Amino acid sequence: MAIRLLSIHDLRNIQTASLEPCERLNLIFGPNGSGKTSILEAIYLLGRGKSFRSAYSRRIIRREQSSLTVFGKTLSANDCSDSLGIQIKEGKFRAKINGEIEKKSSNLASLLPLLLISPDADKLIKGSPRQRRRFIDWGLFHVEHEFLPVWQRYNRILLQRNSALRQNNGSVLDAWNDQLVEAALKLDQFRRGYLTQLVEQTQCILPKLLEIEACDFRYLPGWPISESYEAALIANVDSDIKAGFTQRGPHRAELSMRVVGRPAAEFLSGGQQKLAACSLLLAQASVFNLRREENCILLVDDLPAELDTRHRAKFMDLLYSIGGQVFVTATDASSLDISGYPNKQMFHVEHGVITAEKRDGN
Ligand SMILES: Nc1ncnc2c1ncn2[C@@H]1O[C@H](COP(=O)(O)OP(=O)(O)O)[C@@H](O)[C@H]1O
Ligand SMILES: [Mg+2]
Repeated sequence: MAIRLLSIHDLRNIQTASLEPCERLNLIFGPNGSGKTSILEAIYLLGRGKSFRSAYSRRIIRREQSSLTVFGKTLSANDCSDSLGIQIKEGKFRAKINGEIEKKSSNLASLLPLLLISPDADKLIKGSPRQRRRFIDWGLFHVEHEFLPVWQRYNRILLQRNSALRQNNGSVLDAWNDQLVEAALKLDQFRRGYLTQLVEQTQCILPKLLEIEACDFRYLPGWPISESYEAALIANVDSDIKAGFTQRGPHRAELSMRVVGRPAAEFLSGGQQKLAACSLLLAQASVFNLRREENCILLVDDLPAELDTRHRAKFMDLLYSIGGQVFVTATDASSLDISGYPNKQMFHVEHGVITAEKRDGN
């Protein structure tokens, strides 16, 4: 999957811009505050239906304007072209796919699968278990089309069971238990299958970026592994009634990461946590590319700034070798040695104005 045309209007400091990214490596250079991250934000809006840095859509719209639009034309591996458009106006988000209004952001995501590697990627290591669940579930959504309905079903039943807990209604609770167990086990099975592949890929990538001894990954399903989920749920009913919600289940799952027996978040340095997070994200892109006959798009914001020269070069090599379209932002063109990458396009950004550099002028 690749974006071949991108138009942006009134997004942050970008009044109007139109660019034709190449299908592999796109480098976006420009000083601080020039609009580099805003370009990635525009792409992210197209593929996810929301921003990665503002919960308030009004803040994304260029000052003193009333709406923003982003339009993209994509080309898939089998030469299929789609157009995607989004608009934010009067606090409302509207999306169109091939001219038709689209209400589900999951359909945008299917059409434009993208992964963001931002300077706060390390929250994947040091953040809450929820971050890691979301990460795993994003991967699953893209490679297992039965996953989303199961996930939605599990969450729906969970809400119903929580409501029955608060009413302390025994017979209703029993009815929800059975359904919850069924959905939970399916969800758990999907996650385990996916993690086997993800961990395998991560273990290949990690040593190329990080000089550490082996990292151990363990999936904790959200209930004591010595018990079946059903038994764990029933054993905990009184405590659940007291709490007013379900305390065990896949919504409490965790991916534990340990290096030499210690939690990765404690053992690794800040820089190492970033590299470990990058390894996981690159592994996820790699699983996507293996499972689907398609590549997901990688957005890398400002990351090179935080790595030393050697790790930066290693990271860029991995990024390029995973395949697919990549967008990388950096303040300084000289901070990245890109001479070895044949298929690339550079863009220069200044005060929200984007200029493509001539391809053979690299
Ligand atoms: N709603 C807005 N309207 C106009 N300008 C904005 C808005 N929000 C942010 N900006 C400005 O847009 C510029 C670009 O930001 P950003 O894309 O983060 O820059 P970069 O990533 O190149 O450092 C910044 O100078 C910021 O002050
Ligand atoms: Mg930025």
